[in-house]
Amino acid sequence: MPQSDAVRGTNIILLGPPGAGKGTQAGKLVADRGMVQLSTGDILRAAVKAGTEVGRMADEIMKAGKLFPDELMAEILGEHLDGIPLEKGIIFDGYPRTAVQAGLLDGLLGSRGRTLDHVIELVVDEEALVDRITGRFTCANCGEGYHDRYKLPAKDGICDRCGGTEFKRRPDDNAETVRTRMAEYRAKTAPILPIYAARGLVSDVDGMASMEAVEAAIADVLDRP
Ligand code: AP5
Repeated sequence: MPQSDAVRGTNIILLGPPGAGKGTQAGKLVADRGMVQLSTGDILRAAVKAGTEVGRMADEIMKAGKLFPDELMAEILGEHLDGIPLEKGIIFDGYPRTAVQAGLLDGLLGSRGRTLDHVIELVVDEEALVDRITGRFTCANCGEGYHDRYKLPAKDGICDRCGGTEFKRRPDDNAETVRTRMAEYRAKTAPILPIYAARGLVSDVDGMASMEAVEAAIADVLDRP
């Protein structure tokens, strides 16, 4: 039976510079709405951990704060998309990052009977983001995200979600690499916003507000009739 629009999940892009809160808000949408988070950063980090050829290539690029090649990234993303049922909405977290990737995403979605419903831009102050990123750490077991000042585990040294006691920091979360990642965002990613704005897809959300306020603002966009 062909799947109608009535059962088709909502597909969204969370767009914003490093540290804007894309991963944080994607996690909330997964928990609250049963959406699927596709984070290209997480996909590449998993490849690095697995020690694959893609992982070795990604490791070098990510440590430099540069971008992984467009075509190969799209190929990898397509493989992940194939496993997701049409009724599940998808959050694209960290993709697309270039105009070429935006064009490739249209093809990836269209060929799978999906359309893009919203592009949510997290509007932030870049200087504050350096502080956010360099203070960030995650549970080594379940990946729950924390921050040295904004979100510490309720019990010191114990993950709120899984009870794990080991935490880790990303190798690209140092001030120097963060500046390169920001520059890449300004030069290559921000210019794709007008493409989506012309299609009437972009909604701005104040990413400097509290996590709860950002979550509520995103919910407003998604629940808009
Ligand atoms: P990726 O993993 O996508 O990193 P990023 O875009 O740099 O974004 P981050 O994960 O750093 O930040 P975020 O916006 O998710 O913020 P978070 O929620 O964690 O990419 C890494 C690298 O992979 C790239 O540099 C590139 O090399 C490669 N790559 C990935 N995708 C690619 C692609 N498509 N093409 C080519 N290369 C690609 O929040 C940050 C911190 O702030 C957390 O500690 C959080 O707790 C805190 N926080 C969040 N929201 C708030 C708030 N409202 N108030 C206070 N604190 C907050």
